[in-house]
Amino acid sequence: MICNIAVIKGDGIGPEVVSEAMKVLDAVAAKYGHTFNYEQLLMGGCSIDAHGVPLTDEAVARAKAADAVLLGSIGGNTSTSPWYKLPPNLRPEAGLLKIRKELGLFANLRPALLYKELKGACPLKEEIADKGFDMMIMRELTGGLYFGDRETKEIDGVMTAIDTLTYNENEIRRIAIKGFDIAMKRRKKVTSVDKANVLDSSRLWRKVVEEVAKDYPEVTYEHMLVDNCAMQLVKDPAQFDVVLTENMFGDILSDEASMITGSIGMLASASLNETKFGMYEPSGGSAPDIAGQNKANPIATILSAAMMLRYTFDMDKEADAIEAAVQQVLVENYRTCDIVSEGTQLVSCSEMGDLIAERV
Ligand code: IPM
Ligand code: MG
Repeated sequence: MICNIAVIKGDGIGPEVVSEAMKVLDAVAAKYGHTFNYEQLLMGGCSIDAHGVPLTDEAVARAKAADAVLLGSIGGNTSTSPWYKLPPNLRPEAGLLKIRKELGLFANLRPALLYKELKGACPLKEEIADKGFDMMIMRELTGGLYFGDRETKEIDGVMTAIDTLTYNENEIRRIAIKGFDIAMKRRKKVTSVDKANVLDSSRLWRKVVEEVAKDYPEVTYEHMLVDNCAMQLVKDPAQFDVVLTENMFGDILSDEASMITGSIGMLASASLNETKFGMYEPSGGSAPDIAGQNKANPIATILSAAMMLRYTFDMDKEADAIEAAVQQVLVENYRTCDIVSEGTQLVSCSEMGDLIAERV
């Protein structure tokens, strides 16, 4: 199969981790007889430096023309980088929000699973870590607070900032359907997370999720308030299968879920639209403090490439091969610095990429 992949390496550790994912993809191509064509695009701080904006319309058009997008990370240090002196709509993050919206990527899948080899890196109590967990955070990605109108202005002599949180029933329904569809392929449980005791948008969310649930009689579902969910994630993460939630709650809960896996450097993600098209990126950020030092953990990006093969290209066995190779290097005790512990062997970002590529 010939696949055209737009590659956005981005800022910080982005270029390092994406190069390792490409190395692994090339190993897959060689073994299974595929051709992966890459077209590199700029987004984030590097695009600001080159073009004055975090994402050009041309880059959007090229991304749209590709079959899938593989992304590293964007952004820099928010206190020291000159990018953060720019108006908000010209900062690196605006590029990411724009590409999500332009490509219609409303469904964000963030799988959080505890590898038994990494139990020692899990910050939870041993009796909780021993039970393990394997959940899929399904975050709505193109609505809610992050896309509502916002302004800061003086009202009656007082500086006031306004952000608006809007959801319509169609936006809720399409992500709920994706969530229940994914649950059908997993352990058939959906936890829909909202703040329906306070917010109207959450009350509508609940109502629509209940309607969608009727079409999935095999799926057990429950509603959970977001504050309780944040607590349950550290108390009993094994209870979760699919966690279905709106944009901001999903942003926060997915960072929490990733931390209990041991390292945010392990967490892949897929952002999908109504078609097979998707953008695949590690859940973690650009980590400017370790950028350019060949220290970053490329596993999240490599696993994101596996998700790309699975969801966009229907290459299940190739995706399985990457996931098995990742598992294998962990069994063989190779670790990047974020997950290293006594008795394991420290390797660099590029060594980790080599080890995984060799095992594909
Ligand atoms: C994420 C990030 C982004 C988000 C930022 C960088 C805009 O935190 O992908 O979770 O909030 O969506
Ligand atoms: Mg986030």
